[in-house]
Amino acid sequence: TKKILLFCDPGIDDSLAIMYTLIDPELELVGIVTSYGNVTKNQATANAAYLLQLAGKNNIPIIPGAAKPVQQEEVTFYPEIHGEGIGPIQPPSNLQYQTYPFDTIRLIIERYKNEIIVVDTGRSTTLATAFILFPDDMKMVHSYYVMGGAFFVPGNVTALAEANFFGDPTSSNFVLKFAHNLTITPLNATQFAVLTQEIVDAISENEKNIYAFMMAPVFEYYYEFYKETVPGIPGAPIHDLLTVMLVKNPTIVDYTYYDAKVVEEIEAKGMSYIDIRPTSKTGQTRVAINLHYEEFLREFIKVMLPE
Ligand code: BDR
Ligand code: CA
Repeated sequence: TKKILLFCDPGIDDSLAIMYTLIDPELELVGIVTSYGNVTKNQATANAAYLLQLAGKNNIPIIPGAAKPVQQEEVTFYPEIHGEGIGPIQPPSNLQYQTYPFDTIRLIIERYKNEIIVVDTGRSTTLATAFILFPDDMKMVHSYYVMGGAFFVPGNVTALAEANFFGDPTSSNFVLKFAHNLTITPLNATQFAVLTQEIVDAISENEKNIYAFMMAPVFEYYYEFYKETVPGIPGAPIHDLLTVMLVKNPTIVDYTYYDAKVVEEIEAKGMSYIDIRPTSKTGQTRVAINLHYEEFLREFIKVMLPE
C-alpha cells in the first residue's frame, strides 16, 4: 500500500479526497494535517475528524496546521462553495477527537521514511512551515503531490490565479522550490475532473460506501455553486480527489516537465507559470496539463462504488 500524509483544508473536494483515500485498500492514510483555506482551521479539523470517525479510523492522527497565510492577517473563506461544515453537513456538536502536535509530522516521516507520500490539497502555508521546521526530514519523503495553479488557463479566484496558490503565494513558491519528486495538479487538469449527479445518485444507493448518506447533499451544495458560476458545466470538479488519485494512477493525466513559479506581487497575486519558451530548459516537476476523463471516471467508480 502507498502511505499518504495529507495536508488539506476540507472543504468538499478535500473531503472527497479523504473519503477516497480511506476507502481505497491500496492507499493508507497515515496522517491528516488540517489548515485554514476553504473553511477555518478549526472547522477543517472538525470536518476531518468527523470523516475519520465515520470510517472508524480515529487512530489516524489529525495535526492542526496554519490558521492564516504568511503575508496578511485577513483570511477569506469560501462558505458559498464549501459550506460551513462539509457543505450543508455539520459534524455532530458532541464530536470528540484528539489532535496531535505539529512535531508529529516529523515522527510520521521518520517512521515511514523513503516511502511516505505527501499530498497537499490546501493552501501552501503549512507544508512550507514543515519545510522550515524539518528540512532534513522532508528530504526523506518519497514524493510530493500538490494541487494548485492554473498554467496559461483562467484562474478560479481571480482571472489569473487558482485558490491554493492565491491563498499564500510566498509559501507556494517555497514548496515548489524545495519539494522533490513533485507532481502538480493545476486547474488545467482538475477542472475537467467532474463528478456528476448520475454517479452521486449511484453512490447514494450503494450500501458498501460508508459515506453514501452524505454524498447527495454535499454534492448538491457544491454543484450549485459551479452551475451558477460556470454555465453548462456537466458536474462539479473534484480537484483534490484527482490529486490523490494520481499517486496510484499516474496515467490519468498527461504531463509537461517544467519547474513552476507563482507571482507574489499583488497585481497578479497567485498567478502560476512555467517557462516554456523554446530556449528554456525543462525541469524536474511534473505538471498535469490534460485529463483523460474516462480513465478518471473508471477509477473513481472502482473505489467509490464498491460492488
Ligand atoms: C482548490 O482550492 C480549494 O478551494 C479546493 O479545495 C481545491 O483544493 C481548487 O482551486
Ligand atoms: Ca482543498
